[in-house]
Amino acid sequence: METTIAGIVRLLGASLKNRGLYPPSHPLVKSPIWKCVAELAPLFANRAELVLTVVDDTLVLEGVPIFHLTSSLELFLARLGSIGVPALVFEKEMTTEDLERFMLFLHETKEQGLSTEAIKERLSVAGIKHIYVTEREDTDDFANAQKVYNNAISVVAKALNDVRNGQIPDGASCESAVREINGMLLRNRDAMLALTLIKNFDEYTYNHSVNVSVLALAVTENLGLPEQSRINVGVAGLLHDIGKTQLALDLIQKPGTLTISEYEEIKKHPEAGFVILEKMTNIQPETCSLVREHHMRFDRAGYPTPDPGAPPHPYSQVIAVADCYDALTSTRSYQKARTPQNAIEIMRKLSGKSLDPDLVTLLERSLGIYPIGTLLRLNTMEVGIVTKVPEGGKGNLEIAILYDRAGNPLPKPEAVDLSEVDPTTGKPRRTTLGTVNPMLLPPIPFENVLESTSS
Ligand SMILES: [Fe+2]
Ligand SMILES: [Fe+2]
Repeated sequence: METTIAGIVRLLGASLKNRGLYPPSHPLVKSPIWKCVAELAPLFANRAELVLTVVDDTLVLEGVPIFHLTSSLELFLARLGSIGVPALVFEKEMTTEDLERFMLFLHETKEQGLSTEAIKERLSVAGIKHIYVTEREDTDDFANAQKVYNNAISVVAKALNDVRNGQIPDGASCESAVREINGMLLRNRDAMLALTLIKNFDEYTYNHSVNVSVLALAVTENLGLPEQSRINVGVAGLLHDIGKTQLALDLIQKPGTLTISEYEEIKKHPEAGFVILEKMTNIQPETCSLVREHHMRFDRAGYPTPDPGAPPHPYSQVIAVADCYDALTSTRSYQKARTPQNAIEIMRKLSGKSLDPDLVTLLERSLGIYPIGTLLRLNTMEVGIVTKVPEGGKGNLEIAILYDRAGNPLPKPEAVDLSEVDPTTGKPRRTTLGTVNPMLLPPIPFENVLESTSS
């Protein structure tokens, strides 16, 4: 999807660039617009509109940033920026004519910094119907990640309720929720991953479903899967326990040990999930297999028993690893939540037995290992740099804060003590949430940071 999106925006840029050289009827001006409309069509298959925003000089289409700028793309970005277009919405009903008129508007408008109202007025005078401008979307990644997360919660809640009411949900909304999660992970992995640690006990099933989807997608980042396969893994994460809707609520929520017959009941949920998914529209066969196999275990000693002639799908273990991590770090009626480090330790012991060791390592990596120089997001939303790692891995990391909660660089790095306790809560004042990609932060003179904080 990323490459499709980048390609579409590049076509618009090419048309705009050529418009500066040729008359409007020239094929080099017109054909990129026709092509663009044709390439947008499949993207509208399961959504009513596409949102293009300009965030910190980066074009973002549907939450996917387009980093690889070409000169024509830069021109397109510059035109949007100088006219003052904060965010553009392309509606499904958009015609070639709408897009041609819009490109003419970009080419001809020479004023700078127009208000959103003024731009709206011009578009309507130009007769453009299905392209409109809107105020800039919230550019705070954490707020955006929260929106994406909440949307996924409502999508999975609706799907599970539909099944409970005897209806068959449509998989299209699940796929678009997962595409949004995937886009947000690419844009700011830490903001998205941080939300999986915020657990809400009342809605365990919904939180758990979304968390498994987010974590599974994060694990696939380093597997080099084709994009559709990644999405299939994400949808499988979201719906992996859909078969539990067929079990009695008392059984699912039962604290403590299950009887043999109760366990036999629980064991039916992957197959039941498979049956439900097969009836749903817009669900890929790969997703169905992953849901059916998510408890088969790495050593194949799980359930349902694998067919000796048909080995389990290689990615069903991705769901298993994400499922295990989220279950361990959640509070349930029968267990206290473990810390992420603790959960990983337990999972390392399960490696080679119930879990795939390579995937446990990948999960560990995507959640962050913290060598010196790593940037970390703290629970206060500040960003710090690791200045010292405790010997033998025991004790606290030493960290210096470089950016405040809003992402602004501090005038001077501020060393903080992670063992410092907040007297009002009795808990550590700061804890680490995960690693931060330095490319996503404003530049800072890093050279002296380690020296200036070591004293
Ligand atoms: Fe399950
Ligand atoms: Fe689960």
